[in-house]
Amino acid sequence: MNLLSCTNLSKSYNDGTSQVDVLKQVNFSLQSGEQVAILGNSGSGKSTLLHILGALDSPTEGQVTFQQQDIFAFSAKQQAQFRNQHLGFVYQMHHLLPEFSAIENVAMPLLIGKQSSSKAKKSAQNMLDRVGLSHRLEHKPSQLSGGERQRVAIARALVTNPSIVLADEPTGNLDDKTGQSIYELIRELKQDFQTSFVIVTHDQKLASKLDKIWQLQSGVLTQSAPKDMMVNV
Ligand SMILES: Nc1ncnc2c1ncn2[C@@H]1O[C@H](COP(=O)(O)OP(=O)(O)OP(=O)(O)O)[C@@H](O)[C@H]1O
Ligand SMILES: [Mg+2]
Repeated sequence: MNLLSCTNLSKSYNDGTSQVDVLKQVNFSLQSGEQVAILGNSGSGKSTLLHILGALDSPTEGQVTFQQQDIFAFSAKQQAQFRNQHLGFVYQMHHLLPEFSAIENVAMPLLIGKQSSSKAKKSAQNMLDRVGLSHRLEHKPSQLSGGERQRVAIARALVTNPSIVLADEPTGNLDDKTGQSIYELIRELKQDFQTSFVIVTHDQKLASKLDKIWQLQSGVLTQSAPKDMMVNV
């Protein structure tokens, strides 16, 4: 099933004197359960693309559809609902809430989705356990290491069991062993729930575990090169 599509998606910034074209006519179609890595140099538009796919930013031109529905035709309330019910987002700068503990941060999307506090905390604890943080449940983000914060952010994105996860450098601060447990988690989610992933990464090992690798170069998305030819790990 076609889950997420982009048609002629462009994003430009214009400050009155000059125009920056960050995304140029991006087209793709992601099937349910498909897991894709996006590689690209710094400044090539990767975060901008992810933000638009998550309706956190709007395109200058073009369309994004989720399950055949135009996400930019949604009202603000419908967009919030789409994000809460179907989407998990791992930000490049984790964006955890500083005044809340790890378990509260992870439980937050479930509470927003109107789950009871006890149920939400139980699911949050299970997910933190899966990312190896059961010993840090009550720590606030400032009391966690960079890699631990990243894992809390991953747990928060996955706790609602979303249909699609958009992740911006999710393993950037992780050591090999912890990275490995994240790869395994991603594989299990595909097996158990057909979870789709679009992962922006410089981590070649992670990219090699996914179904496809796309390249973003100066705002142009290329998805033709076969995975095996591009990654040697
Ligand atoms: N508000 C803005 N106004 C003008 N230019 C912007 C704005 N936001 C982003 N850009 C430009 O868009 C380009 C793409 O930014 P983006 O954050 O998507 O890059 P990226 O591929 O995620 O890079 P990195 O790997 O460093 O995270 C950059 O050149 C950036 O300067
Ligand atoms: Mg970025």
